[in-house]
Amino acid sequence: MKGQILKIFKREKGIVSGETLSFELGVSRVSIWKHIRKLQDFGYNIVATTMGYQLIDSIDALFPWEFPDRESKIHFFPEVTSTMDIAGELARKGCSHFTVVIAGCQKKGRGRLKRIWHSSEGGLYFTIVLRPQIPPVLSLRLNFAASLVLAKLLRQMFCIDAMVKWPNDILVNNRKISGILSEINAESDRVSFINIGFGINVNNDPASKEPTATSLRCILGKKISKKQLLSEFLDKFESYIDNVNLDNVISEWKKHTTTLNRRVKIVTYHDVSEGVAIDVDENGTLILELADGSIKKVIYGDCFHV
Ligand code: BTN
Repeated sequence: MKGQILKIFKREKGIVSGETLSFELGVSRVSIWKHIRKLQDFGYNIVATTMGYQLIDSIDALFPWEFPDRESKIHFFPEVTSTMDIAGELARKGCSHFTVVIAGCQKKGRGRLKRIWHSSEGGLYFTIVLRPQIPPVLSLRLNFAASLVLAKLLRQMFCIDAMVKWPNDILVNNRKISGILSEINAESDRVSFINIGFGINVNNDPASKEPTATSLRCILGKKISKKQLLSEFLDKFESYIDNVNLDNVISEWKKHTTTLNRRVKIVTYHDVSEGVAIDVDENGTLILELADGSIKKVIYGDCFHV
């Protein structure tokens, strides 16, 4: 109902009477009034006049009703420990494919290799629960698809030079604008769920805590609508994984990466290797040529361009 009321406000662009809303939506004027009060409590600037109600300006909100086509699968929380925790609970309870958990900020946001992901207000933090019908060995392709779709969308929406860095970071002018973390639950031959968490620096200023990071606002010099970015990303990513053959993901990803053919340092829990990144295989494994000419395959790790 809240989404439908907002839709009418946006269409009418002026004062809308209680009668009109109640007639169009088939509910009583008292019910409309209660929904308007709720929307005001959620921060929407709606004024009540003798002629009716008016939405004065729209806010950049991520409530489920802001995504009318997927409202029942969106969960928004102003503050969480980590969207990965909530998505994990929902997935274990059997939530459906493409359930999305969004947070305004995270108190214990986490990154790959047990790093902290600083998650202050202004950034975009969400986790998507996927239930793909694929064997576990192919699951990493979804992470590559996620970073590829996001990098292409950032280029298209904001005309910025967004590139992917192995495995799934997105850089603009060599500064990190987004990171992706995935958690998989699988049996030997079947994926039960894959939760992919996205941290995108949108209107926050991450450089104070992460000197090599940047945000859309820092690059573009203006505030960006998180809702519009998220809405477009969800549509693009869902359509990509439903329609595109995942066999082609890595070859397309390679066209948008800055990692290949350069010297890199790879840090894992166990060791550090340095060499030239000569390729990424069809499952996302990085192929390194070490100084002595030998080849090393790296499945996971932190990659530094040196
Ligand atoms: C990385 O680059 O190390 C990955 C960062 C992933 C951060 C996102 S923010 C939403 C989701 N919740 C988390 O706690 N982490 C991921």
